Amino acid sequence: MLPIIDRIPTSPDDRYALSDGNSIPCIGYGTWRVKDREDGARVCEEAVRAGYRHFDTAYLYGSEGSVGEAVRTSGIARSEFFVTTKVWKDDLSAEGARRELGVSLERLGLDYVDLLLIHWPRRSAEDADWKRAITETWNAFQDFKAEGLVKSIGVANFLPHHFATLEGETPVVNQIEVHPGYLQEEVIRYCRERGILVEAWAPLGQSRLMTNDVVRAIAEKHGVTPARVCLRFSLELGLLPIAKSADPERMRANRDVFNFALDDEDRAALFGLPEKTGWSGEHPDDAIPMPDPSKL
Ligand SMILES: NC(=O)c1ccc[n+]([C@@H]2O[C@H](COP(=O)([O-])OP(=O)(O)OC[C@H]3O[C@@H](n4cnc5c(N)ncnc54)[C@H](OP(=O)(O)O)[C@@H]3O)[C@@H](O)[C@H]2O)c1
Repeated sequence: MLPIIDRIPTSPDDRYALSDGNSIPCIGYGTWRVKDREDGARVCEEAVRAGYRHFDTAYLYGSEGSVGEAVRTSGIARSEFFVTTKVWKDDLSAEGARRELGVSLERLGLDYVDLLLIHWPRRSAEDADWKRAITETWNAFQDFKAEGLVKSIGVANFLPHHFATLEGETPVVNQIEVHPGYLQEEVIRYCRERGILVEAWAPLGQSRLMTNDVVRAIAEKHGVTPARVCLRFSLELGLLPIAKSADPERMRANRDVFNFALDDEDRAALFGLPEKTGWSGEHPDDAIPMPDPSKL
């Protein structure tokens, strides 16, 4: 069982230090499926009103325009925000990454992003050339940083064997799926040992954990919601949860996780959930279908 960290954040505005000297707000707002299903920019503006300053988007998501609009029209200094975007697996090359980053910055209407991630380590299970593709892309990321287009660089969905392909700088972040029932302890330990902050995507198990009996029982015991149990669990392990909600009340509640603490019994129950409870079904070395952007 992973130990809890010594200095658990005490407010949603606390920041984690990144290994390159920058820092990042300890809770992020996820924007996968925000655009087109709801009015994306209004949802992101609501998230700003709820207090979020850390937005997670991607070239793939179709939400960069909404995030950018919310940031630019907020009346809040750009430096108060932390915006992450990602280069998709189909463009893992120096040229492809530069093209995507250019499009992302244009959609965002910003002149830099705070964090750029390699979104997925390989195009498909059959992709024999994935190591070269990552090395080349990572070298280009270091150029983007030197050019001031990005402040920090990192990866997503990397397992230990993927890191061996990187040359030069160590990524500051690895964004992976983590939640009770899908803990990826080996990856978290690997990252901790190297000073790489782990961001937890799908911290609520994409809402599948909201109806889990174990999570619900812990929530009831503390008088909180199942979502707050999952988010608190992430923070106590030193992870940075990125949850998505289009609902203003839930957005606010998902930041309100600093006035209760899980105990050893809760943690043992959450660590004891059957492996793959709430799992998305997506594995970094498998092919995942490229969604039709018009249907996001
Ligand atoms: N790097 C990657 O490969 C990767 C992959 C997936 C996701 N991500 C990032 O991680 C973010 C979060 O992951 P996710 O969106 O897949 O899953 P998630 O945040 O675990 O779950 C989102 C779902 O939970 C519901 N929800 C949110 N708060 C709730 C609450 N308090 N009570 C009940 N239900 C609640 C949301 O519905 P409502 O909107 O109706 O509230 C939505 O259906 C994404 O948006 C994206 O930014 C990254």
